[in-house]
Amino acid sequence: MFEVKTYSGEKKKDYELLYKQLQALSEDESEAVTILANASALLNQFLDEINWVGFYLWKHDELILGPFQGLPACTRIPYGKGVCGAAVEKEATVLVEDVSQFPGHIVCDAVSQSEIVVPIFKDGKIYGVLDIDSPILNRFDEEEKEYLEAVVQIIEKHI
Ligand code: SME
Repeated sequence: MFEVKTYSGEKKKDYELLYKQLQALSEDESEAVTILANASALLNQFLDEINWVGFYLWKHDELILGPFQGLPACTRIPYGKGVCGAAVEKEATVLVEDVSQFPGHIVCDAVSQSEIVVPIFKDGKIYGVLDIDSPILNRFDEEEKEYLEAVVQIIEKHI
């Protein structure tokens, strides 16, 4: 019988340690792209069961690919398109348990099954998004959404 693989990792993994490491890597750096590059590397090392983590940046009314870890990805995403564009439109985190059920999902890596996109703001305006893809269904839940939103809050303080 087909068994749906669900995430059973240790959600309570030491997010506090991650926050400290991110803070330490960001506090003396003024270049946003450098902060985002290290943040993507840190998240990639910290999160299990993911296949892509990175940033899209809001430039000239579209999202463009920023620092990331994973396979090469689509370079530009219009407002409202895909999960990333939806997060920009809603100005809120979009958590997708099964990307095949999300209308307009943009496939960058065919192994992706679930996804979370957290918007990033600077001076009250959209700055970009944190995008994380997983090869398993239901990888992200409300609890982890809050942890990842806290990650983005640290990034917002430094960019
Ligand atoms: N799946 C995203 C596109 C970006 S990749 O996942 C890296 C979307 O639907 O917006």
